[in-house]
Amino acid sequence: MIIVKLGGSIICNKNEPFSFNEGVVKQIAEEIADFYPEKKFLLVHGGGSYGHPLAKGYKIREGLKKENMGGVSKTHQAMLELNKKIIEIFLSLKLPAFSISPSSIFIINDGQIVDGWIKVIEEFIARDFIPVLFGDVAIAKDKGIDILSGDQIISYLAQKFEPEKVIFLMDVDGIYDKNPKVHKDARLIEEINEKISLRQEAAGIDVTGGVRNKIDEALKIPCPVYFINGMVRGNLTKAIKGERVGTIIKRS
Ligand code: IPE
Repeated sequence: MIIVKLGGSIICNKNEPFSFNEGVVKQIAEEIADFYPEKKFLLVHGGGSYGHPLAKGYKIREGLKKENMGGVSKTHQAMLELNKKIIEIFLSLKLPAFSISPSSIFIINDGQIVDGWIKVIEEFIARDFIPVLFGDVAIAKDKGIDILSGDQIISYLAQKFEPEKVIFLMDVDGIYDKNPKVHKDARLIEEINEKISLRQEAAGIDVTGGVRNKIDEALKIPCPVYFINGMVRGNLTKAIKGERVGTIIKRS
């Protein structure tokens, strides 16, 4: 089984609320169609310009309050809307995508999943469906309610399901030693393992914040993890086939 994350930055235009990149999602679905049903897939998509503006506006990360209960529900509904658009594209290509709401099966604490009922996901995959989960609001032990990111879902499911590989689709070519949108001399890191990751830290290479977190989460996953540019047709195919593309993170 292969887990694919459709990052919010490729399925939406982050600067435009409720924008949907239909063409990019169609291209991803077409590439997956070339391998289905021989390979099984599980998809997780991000919030993009559907989830993030609402989550921010209703201060979901500050936890549950009387005044944001409606906002919690509206954020979830916005994610369902985005999820529906994605599912419809897959169905139009005869791929049996099936929506599963993370808020219905996961409980979190400090942003991480502490309880999950994933038997249903397993059973859908066993019947050749393609479950499609997404970053969502979720019941949180610490804050009452919080945001559960798609990356956390993948980290949890990859440890439970032991997939063949995990592929993150982003709007840049992979993981760089510096932010490529700011530094022209940023260099793409082709392969990262525990040793290389530590060596880079020792050399003071600027893999901090979001990127550091991505690497740390990927190193917890017991299979190769690809970070590739999902806007480029053919990249997903290469990653599925195991060809050299983007950044590959392996535990050893
Ligand atoms: C965020 O999910 C979900 C909500 C804001 C409701 P992600 O963190 O996985 O989303 P992206 O990929 O950054 O857009």
